Amino acid sequence: MNGTRRRGARLRLALAGAATIALLGPLAWMWQDSLMPDAYSVMDMGYADYGGALTHVGATSGHSEHSEHSEHSEHFEHSEHSGHSEHTASARSLTSLTADPDRAADVAITLVARRQRFRLPTGRSVDGYTLNGASPGPVIHATVGQLVEVRLVNESVPDGITLHWHGVDVPNAADGVAGVTQDAVGVGRSFTYRFVAGQAGTFWYHSHQVSHEQVRRGLLGALVVTPAARPPAGTADVVALLHLYDGARTINGREGDVRAEARPGERVRVRVINTENGQTPVWVGGAPFRLAAVDGTDLHEPASVRDTAVTVTAGGRADIEVTMPEDGSPVRVHIGGPAGVVLGSRSYDAPAVPRPSTTLDLLSYGTPAPLGFDPDRPDRRFDYEIGRRPGFLDGRPGVWWTINGHMFPDVPMFVVAKGDVVRMRIVNDSGEPHPMHLHGHHAVVLSRDGVRATGGPWWVDSLEVGTGESYDIAFVADNPGIWMDHCHNLPHATEGLVAHLMYEGVTTPFTVGGTGGNKPE
Ligand code: C2O
Ligand code: CU
Repeated sequence: MNGTRRRGARLRLALAGAATIALLGPLAWMWQDSLMPDAYSVMDMGYADYGGALTHVGATSGHSEHSEHSEHSEHFEHSEHSGHSEHTASARSLTSLTADPDRAADVAITLVARRQRFRLPTGRSVDGYTLNGASPGPVIHATVGQLVEVRLVNESVPDGITLHWHGVDVPNAADGVAGVTQDAVGVGRSFTYRFVAGQAGTFWYHSHQVSHEQVRRGLLGALVVTPAARPPAGTADVVALLHLYDGARTINGREGDVRAEARPGERVRVRVINTENGQTPVWVGGAPFRLAAVDGTDLHEPASVRDTAVTVTAGGRADIEVTMPEDGSPVRVHIGGPAGVVLGSRSYDAPAVPRPSTTLDLLSYGTPAPLGFDPDRPDRRFDYEIGRRPGFLDGRPGVWWTINGHMFPDVPMFVVAKGDVVRMRIVNDSGEPHPMHLHGHHAVVLSRDGVRATGGPWWVDSLEVGTGESYDIAFVADNPGIWMDHCHNLPHATEGLVAHLMYEGVTTPFTVGGTGGNKPE
């Protein structure tokens, strides 16, 4: 009797043990499998997606045997033909993709980064980082066509730093992504960025080393590129960089209103830069306005509107153009709340107005104009479908973002050739909005949820893709390199919402991790 019972207990124990192993075995395997190597090249991440292009340069190498939707490729390729780079004679390191090295700089500036405690004008102290002693760093001004040269010196930021030129289609070597286009700049070192300011508009710069932490704590600033022609008399220009320091909402580093002088009848361009992790609404009290530009690109024939809000994507910019009332009354440009930019001369007493219930839809704003290419005859078509599922990310259990069903780092590498017309469908089934940012290119929005764009060309580098939304965008692959294509809610990037666009034949000598401690997210 006793013996039987004991045997039964033993059997139950054995079964429980087997069940545990059956359950934990795969979990342990998944955990182990998710661990990232100490150092890796993004070229070796995930699987190549050729966007349906049947021919590509060097078709015999590396990933050509993988079908576009290979489901079970390894996270990292270790074969002789590893990586997505085409190992042909034409392979070229991205370090050679620079502005003309013989050309002298038109705008030259040195930025010294420090780890520093600094004070907001209200007295609140922030433990963060500065550039030339302040955060945000200085506004860099250039006119179109000028060569901008920025020497970045790291005086005391322990993790190392970089600068990324958000929205500027720089040569790849100047893109500032640690572990992809350069090594993080360690304490006591410097790095020089050179690029031609090819487009007039509002841009910004920020660190792309441990960016979720370094951007939040202050390594950022504005970059304004103005047209070559002098602005007509009677126009004014104001930068309004929105940033959250330890929970304090600031404009140009100040809590509360920023005042800017504008005379009656004057036309003012307020350049709103959203450096936060989420979108923000902007609206105007006291005058009608036009949305003159988005993400550094002028809109075509934007109509004057009133009682309408504009949403600015995280990482995105919106240039609000206001014509000052002739009677001298001030105008309030609300940025995310009651505070904002107050434009005036005699008085700055502009009352706050509530956020309008109408939001400007850029899908139908402005009037059509030629794109300069035909998006209906693409050379490549990509999907960028964002989902979410439980699993391990570098050994950490959690519910992580997926791209086309794959979890980082087993994500697609979007491969293009120079000159390709590329279409991409971004679908968000992840339950949270994502401000998607492609480096090095501007893309035009073709449709949202299947509804075609009917307004002026809506060019973006940062696009809010809301929950359940889908966008079709298109761009011309005209800037060779290896470019991040990620969520600009920067904590989401650390949670794996990062992929890359890579040009055939371009390679990088840099690795994420390694002795330089490169951590782009
Ligand atoms: Cu503004 Cu990859 O970043
Ligand atoms: Cu996101």
